[in-house]
Amino acid sequence: MNTQTVISAIYLFLPAYFANASPVVFGGGPPLDGGVNWLDGKPFLGGHKTTKGTIFGIITGSLIGLLQGNLLGGVLQAVGAISGDIVTSFFKRRINIEPGGSFPVADQLDFILFAVALSYPVQLTSWETNIVIILVTLPLHYLTNVAAYLLGLKKKPW
Ligand code: CTP
Ligand code: MG
Repeated sequence: MNTQTVISAIYLFLPAYFANASPVVFGGGPPLDGGVNWLDGKPFLGGHKTTKGTIFGIITGSLIGLLQGNLLGGVLQAVGAISGDIVTSFFKRRINIEPGGSFPVADQLDFILFAVALSYPVQLTSWETNIVIILVTLPLHYLTNVAAYLLGLKKKPW
């Protein structure tokens, strides 16, 4: 895994990163799940997944893809990143983790796993690129969240 491979993998997946990060800045307001509960009586997704954050995330990620000349890949990455994060919230609520509570590894990797999978049919990324971006996302996601926390954008550093 050389530096060049790592940098180009991060560059290729910037739409996923932007899609995942922008709801922290632009999110808020009414919950995406409309405040409904699942069959277990607990929130379906919880109040931290908002309609505004979801829409802004998809738009921001797609715009980055457009700027990179990879609109379709960017849209698929953005939709994948946002969906992966939503799927994790669904499972967090099932196992009684409050909105904003930590679910290690899933919290860090959900968005990138879904972004890699959804964009694969268009981007045809190599196994090396896929593995590299997943591996670097673990520390990188953690560091970006600590930065967002220090900037006062997030209440918790994860
Ligand atoms: N956010 C949003 N809409 C989304 C995703 C995120 O509005 N679809 C915003 C919320 O303000 C959320 C913040 O981005 O608090 C950070 O997202 P994330 O860390 O994924 O959510 P958590 O606060 O950890 O909530 P959960 O426990 O449901 O994962
Ligand atoms: Mg999350």
